[in-house]
Amino acid sequence: MRRIWRPILDQFTPYDAGKPLEALEAELGPSRLVRLSANENPLGPSPRVVEAIRREATRAHLYPDGGSTALREALGARLGVSAEQIVVGNGADELIGLLATAALEPGDEVVVPAPSFEPYTTSVLLAGGRVRPSPLAGYETDLDDVRRRVGARTKAVILCSPHNPAATIVRRGPLLALLAALGDDPPLLVLDEAYCDFVDDPDYPDGVALLPRHPRVVVLRTFSKIAGLAGLRVGYAVGSPETIDRLNRVREPYNVNRLGQAAALAALEDGEHLARTRRVVLEERAFLGRELARRGHTFPPSQANFLLVRVASAAEVGARLLRAGLLVRDGAAVGFPGHLRISIGDRAANERLLGALDAAG
Ligand SMILES: Cc1ncc(COP(=O)(O)O)c(C=O)c1O
Repeated sequence: MRRIWRPILDQFTPYDAGKPLEALEAELGPSRLVRLSANENPLGPSPRVVEAIRREATRAHLYPDGGSTALREALGARLGVSAEQIVVGNGADELIGLLATAALEPGDEVVVPAPSFEPYTTSVLLAGGRVRPSPLAGYETDLDDVRRRVGARTKAVILCSPHNPAATIVRRGPLLALLAALGDDPPLLVLDEAYCDFVDDPDYPDGVALLPRHPRVVVLRTFSKIAGLAGLRVGYAVGSPETIDRLNRVREPYNVNRLGQAAALAALEDGEHLARTRRVVLEERAFLGRELARRGHTFPPSQANFLLVRVASAAEVGARLLRAGLLVRDGAAVGFPGHLRISIGDRAANERLLGALDAAG
């Protein structure tokens, strides 16, 4: 018998993102459903983004710029790096896969806090690598433990800060200590900063600022959260020219579509919308946190656009919330049984959530 499919695939099941939004809306009625399970932007995209998409739509028959040149230049100018230090991906998700494909030989190791964002593990395994999980200390990434797990075969460490799903950050001091301990021939240090725009803790290190001294750092960011473009799939990696060159060798020629590039550029130009999103999320995070705490709920202080709330019977409470039209993420699916991961909504959504929790007793 010819063995066609790679045996490693037996370890995976297709990603289950839950029922499509459209199916849930059809069941519950569109105005009743609020999705608080995917850490999306409660304001939606900027009107200027919608206009840019409309304009670009008439050019849908033309292949996009395979190098996302205008977007990389705009990002580079904002971040103070050259366009050669940026690669744009079909969401940050794609870039995680590209890093694994570009760096890993069979048997190479990647240190990943556990639990954390699941695609890290899938990408490493698919590329033939091995994951060395580093258990969280409660809700915090334990950088001492991470360092102890780095060995001769370690090609990368992937840190998620703010962490999904714990919503905590890696702090400047411990991160610099980790970088120092890894020496002058360190593995790649991937900093997944998908939620960086929602951080207000002054002890949060800016990954991009580390690059001149630490060329093996790679920063991942996304337009999905702060810019509300999750449906268009635009993320980017910032790293040394060498890192970006290697990622470019393994990406598809037209990996970011025309509408996504136009939308992301327009999003960057609408600083007011980005600032409003941040303001709303921070205000509502404080409001929801206060109200949940007043009701006796506990959760780690969040630096992201979601809260990881401890609940006695998460599946039951989640099901009851869904009947009230509120979709949240069961922590069991993201490594935290006994918790619900709840995205920060607008005030109306948050009040509905609190009301539904109150009704559930
Ligand atoms: C920690 C983390 N990294 C990356 C991503 C993926 O971002 P994108 O939508 O750009 O693929 C997410 C999405 O939820 C995330 O939570």
